[in-house]
Amino acid sequence: MPKAFAPGKCILFGEHAVVYGHPAVAVAIDSGVEVEIKKSDSWTIDGMPLEIDRHPHISHILKDIFEYDGDPLEIRISSGLFSTAGLGSSAALSNAVGAALEVIIDENHEIDKVALARIGHSAEAKAQNGRASPTDTATSAIGGCIVVSGNDVEGTEHIFSASLETPEGTRTWSIGKVVIPEEIDAWLVLGFTGKASPTGDMVSGVARLLKEEPKKIEEMNAIANITQAGLTALSSGNVEAVGMAMNACHERLRNIQVSSPELDSLVDAVRPHSFGAKLTGAGGGGCMVALTRYPQRVAQEIEIAGGKPLISRLGAEGVRLVN
Ligand code: MEV
Repeated sequence: MPKAFAPGKCILFGEHAVVYGHPAVAVAIDSGVEVEIKKSDSWTIDGMPLEIDRHPHISHILKDIFEYDGDPLEIRISSGLFSTAGLGSSAALSNAVGAALEVIIDENHEIDKVALARIGHSAEAKAQNGRASPTDTATSAIGGCIVVSGNDVEGTEHIFSASLETPEGTRTWSIGKVVIPEEIDAWLVLGFTGKASPTGDMVSGVARLLKEEPKKIEEMNAIANITQAGLTALSSGNVEAVGMAMNACHERLRNIQVSSPELDSLVDAVRPHSFGAKLTGAGGGGCMVALTRYPQRVAQEIEIAGGKPLISRLGAEGVRLVN
C-alpha cells in the first residue's frame, strides 16, 4: 500500500514570464499532498468513483504515461495545500500519484525525481491547453530552490532539460538548482485570498494580452531582469534585496493584469513587517507571499485583511515515499 508525499511550491520570481522562456525561481514549501494507492476491485478516489474529466492529471498519468492495465485502484488523497491557489497542488498531486504508482507496478522501484518531474509536467501541459512550464512539477519533485529558464542560468547547478510543443511553438527549459544559504533567517508566509486561481485561464489571458498589446512583452523582459537580481540576492543571503525584488516583481505582474484587488490588499497589509511581498503563481486569485522575519505577525496581518495564512521554510525536501 504505497504512500507518497510531494510538497507544494511557491514561486518567488518569474511566474508567467517563465512560460515564454524567461527564468523563474521557486522553492518547495513544507505543506503538500499525500497520496495512498492500493489495489482494489473498483476504481475510486477518496471513496468516490474515478471520473476521468474530474481528474485529468491522474487519468493522464495512469493511461497515457504508465498505460496501466492492472487491477482497479483505490486512491486516497490528503492535501495540506489550499487548492487552485497557485501553490502547485496539481503538480504535487501528479508527483505523489506518479511515485505511488511506480511502487504499485514494481514494489522495488526507487524514486527517480527527474522522471517524476517529467511525468508531472506532461500532466500539467495536458490540463493547461498545452501551455505549462516545468516550474511547479520540478520544484515539487526535486525540492529546495529551483531555477527554470529557457537557457542555463549562471550560478545554478543544471539538473535536467525539458521541452514542450505549445500553441506558440516548441519551448525548451533548463532546470537547475540553487543552494539557499543556511544562515538566512527569514520565513515565507503565504496568504490565500480564498478565490480560485485557474492557471490555464490566467496563462491564456496573458497570451491574449500579449497578442493584443505586443508592447507588454517589455513587462516580461522587466520580470526577467528582476528575477536575475532576486536570484543573485537569494544566493548571497541578502534578504533585504530579495524583498525589494519581490516588491518590484509584484508591480510588473500587476501590469500584465494578473493581480486582483484581493491580492493587492493582502500584499499591502503585510509590507510593514516584511522584506517584500508579491502575488505568487498564476494570480487572479490564489495566493500572495511575504518574506519576513516575523512570520506570526505577518500571518495575523493576513488574517485581519481577510486571507488565510500558511507559514513555511524556504526550500523543503522534494517528493518522497512515506510510511
Ligand atoms: C503557475 O504556478 C506558474 C505560471 O508561470 C504557469 C506555468 O509556469 O506553467 C503562471
